[in-house]
Formats: sequence, C-alpha cells, structure tokens
Amino acid sequence: MSMTPQEVIKNLGDLPPLPKVATRAIQISVDSDTSSEELQRLIRTDQALSAQLLKVSNSAMFGRMREVATLPEAIMTLGFSTSRSVVIASSVKNLFSRGPAGNQERILWEHALATAILGSAFSRAMHYAFTEETFMAGLMHDIGKIVLTLKFPEAYDTLLRHVHEQGGEGPSLELETFGFDHAMVGEALLGSWNLTEGIEAAARWHHDPIQAPKETQRLVALVALGNQVAIDLQIGVGSPEALVGATWEAMDILKLDDATYQRHRATALEALERDKSLITGF
Ligand SMILES: [Fe+2]
Ligand SMILES: [Fe+2]
Repeated sequence: MSMTPQEVIKNLGDLPPLPKVATRAIQISVDSDTSSEELQRLIRTDQALSAQLLKVSNSAMFGRMREVATLPEAIMTLGFSTSRSVVIASSVKNLFSRGPAGNQERILWEHALATAILGSAFSRAMHYAFTEETFMAGLMHDIGKIVLTLKFPEAYDTLLRHVHEQGGEGPSLELETFGFDHAMVGEALLGSWNLTEGIEAAARWHHDPIQAPKETQRLVALVALGNQVAIDLQIGVGSPEALVGATWEAMDILKLDDATYQRHRATALEALERDKSLITGF
C-alpha cells in the first residue's frame, strides 16, 4: 500500500519551504528578453550567490586567458540556462546542509548534482526540448531523502548507513521502516512547492518510470538514467544492480537500444567530466 502525498504530509508535519531565491529564479522565464537582467538583479541581492557564480564560471572553462570578474561576464560564460540552474542549485543546496552535520548530506548533494548533469546530458544528446527541466528534476529527485534526514535524523542515518554497507535497495527498507519511501516524500514536498508536474513525477517515479503519467514519462526516464550512471560511478548511496529495472524501463520509454544507450552514456560521462566544476565548485 502506498500513501498519497496528502497522507505523507499528514505523517510528516511541516515541510521545508522552497528557498525564496530558487522560487524567483524558477519564475524568471528562459525566453524573455529581459531575463538575463532579471537574473543578474536577483543574483546581486545575494553576496554568497554572486561569489558562487563567479567561482563556478571561472572553473567552468579551461584555457581562458583571464579571469571572469563580473556577473554579466559570468552569465555569458555559463550561458543563461546554466546560470539559472546554478542559482537554483545553490539556493536548494542550503536544504542539503540543514540536517545534523555529516557526510550523508554531502553525498546526497553530490548525487543530486551528478544526476542533474547526467540526466540533462542524456536529454541534450537526444535533442529533447526539456533539458533544463531535466536538470532541475535530477537535482530534486531524491529530495525526499533530505526530508527524511531532517525528520528522522537518527533512524534515517542508520538506514542510509545500512544501505551503504549492505547495498540493496533503499526504498523498500524505507517503506518497512516509515510506511513511506523517499520517492513519496519527494512527491509530497515538490507538490507543496508547486513545481512542474514533470519534476514531481521524477521524484515519485525515478525508480519505476513506467508508472509515471504518460506525458511525464520521458523526463522521468532521463532522470532515471542520470541516477543509474551516478550510482554506477558511486556518486551516491546504493547499488547499481538495484536500479537495473528502472533503467530497462527508461530505455524502453526512450526507445533506446543498447548501442544507442551506450553512446549517449559516453556523451553524458563527458558532460559530467566537463561540468565537474559545478560539483566541486559548490
Ligand atoms: Fe531515489
Ligand atoms: Fe538517486
């Protein structure tokens, strides 16, 4: 039996709000002429964020002659979409460091970013129009784990450690322990944040993409692939074998044969290598 998001919320009590900066960055649309200026204005309101963007843009490109010193330059270097993603990621990151200090949050955060980068690279390689949404969905797909960390610090820490040491599958253990898993919690949280249906579906169904509502399936599948590759690389907690079912479903949804999957996977790995600074820069 699986709980509805409403039941999950009832069980969990208050959920953390979406950070203000992220909310505003999400509202700034990709395709209006004034977007870039709006984004700059938003970044300027936050010292740490400005510094972050300069840092990321300086580590993003090699072989450049001189340092990126200004915000407009930084946005130009990274491109509008990436800059916006950095802003959102950077403000969402605070959620990942609110729990009791520990290694787990760092691991979860690196996993989230890697999944975002890999998933959106798959999306780009396959010429889908929702690459940026895939990035955000990847970033948020396991956010239910953060909520579980906040709500049940000790029990969840023990559980994660167990999965870390023994391998196996997190979600079934979570269901046993709490009556819901991180996917259901993620759906409840993102629903309360009012993000897109695709982002919500990716949180709920990344372990079982075929169950996602039809119109969101490809996005969910891309996140599932990003998730698989991140875990293959041991960026995150879990064993690659536990995700094989999800990956088969994702390949089926995206109509990928094995050779094509491997080709896109190689492209995604290159993207991760190139964007590693996004991870180390945070
Ligand atoms: Fe997950
Ligand atoms: Fe994951």
